[in-house]
Amino acid sequence: MKVLNIVGARPNFMKIAAIIRAMLEQGNFEPILIHTGQHYDVNMSDTFFHDLSLPQPAICLEVGSGSHSWQTAQIMIRFEKLLIEQQPDLVLVVGDVNSTIACALVAAKMHVALAHVEAGLRSFDRTMPEEINRLVTDQLSDYLFTTCGEANENLRREGISEEKIHFVGNVMVDTLLAHLERAEQSDVLQRLGLNGRSYAVLILHRPSNVEVRSTLVHIIEALEVLQQQVPVVFPAHPRTMKQLASFGLQNRVANMDGLRLIEPLGYLDFLHLMRHSQLTLTDSGGIQEETTVLGVPCLTLRENTERPVTVSQGTNTLVGADPEMIVAESRRIISGFGKKGTRPELWDGKAAERIVAILAHASSLEEVSIAERDSW
Ligand code: UD1
Repeated sequence: MKVLNIVGARPNFMKIAAIIRAMLEQGNFEPILIHTGQHYDVNMSDTFFHDLSLPQPAICLEVGSGSHSWQTAQIMIRFEKLLIEQQPDLVLVVGDVNSTIACALVAAKMHVALAHVEAGLRSFDRTMPEEINRLVTDQLSDYLFTTCGEANENLRREGISEEKIHFVGNVMVDTLLAHLERAEQSDVLQRLGLNGRSYAVLILHRPSNVEVRSTLVHIIEALEVLQQQVPVVFPAHPRTMKQLASFGLQNRVANMDGLRLIEPLGYLDFLHLMRHSQLTLTDSGGIQEETTVLGVPCLTLRENTERPVTVSQGTNTLVGADPEMIVAESRRIISGFGKKGTRPELWDGKAAERIVAILAHASSLEEVSIAERDSW
């Protein structure tokens, strides 16, 4: 089975790593890695190939940055050409980034089977670009691999037929568990002078938080209080850096002695940092899941989440961008009252194996039906 596996942006790399490994182990797959080039900085992309021992992409579409429509359209134009050349049996997309929807649209229009890993997640907030990407990709997919019961329910409600939905667990967790030991060897805490100290980690890049000045100021107000209690490490996304500069907030950030603004980290360093933190504050999707598996209390700086299982079963609490709420909940955690949480069902490191087994089974059924048809 020839499969084009699509990656584009940072959160895709850890998901695809588990899937490619499982495909190679199964033996009947020819996995081809395609990078759209949505993320292109060394520390947003290249580092992850090294940390995750991912093969170099067979092809990079080198799309780069642009508006959502421009970026999506450029990926579509370039991927259509590639699909004609490659003639795969399946296109596999992960997550909810612009590369996901762009390649899903092309595959569906060209009648190539499409698999979506991490299907069915819904924030019910259509102002989020990722929500649009998730909704459309799921409607177009032939195989929808889900991480939790809520995702199955969402898909059923949207009229997706039952035989397309497969509850397999979480490939991001596969990669996390497979890399914990290597991540333990990271010296990131020494480099940051944090060995043996309590600290918090902050990840912030959603447009709703960093592109509205008043919201960003609210978050900074909370940080001004929090960093007096505990050092806060803030590996900042390029967009966040740009927005801090354009809103003239750089000095306010620089003036906080307890806030360590650093470049984005690689996978292993970040995993180490997050695992040993007292709390993690984030507006990322994947980090809500990773902290749940690591048992680290997480405060999500959003009003909603497409990953409610991390709140109901895991260590996650939604706090929005209200400074008082952020500070109060952080204090609760620092005082030892953070959520302990449990690991959701099937988040056991075997999701990619299940995906590959399902695809292999479907492909063997298809071969049987082609052989039967030919023998008529
Ligand atoms: C994308 C995903 C988001 C995910 C995030 C992880 C979409 C709609 N959003 O958002 O779900 O959480 O990745 O990081 O796909 N830039 C660089 N270097 C890079 C990449 C980006 O400087 O390597 C800058 C560019 O100025 C660009 C901006 O960051 O305009 C945003 O990048 P983009 O890929 O559009 O979206 P993300 O915010 O990274």
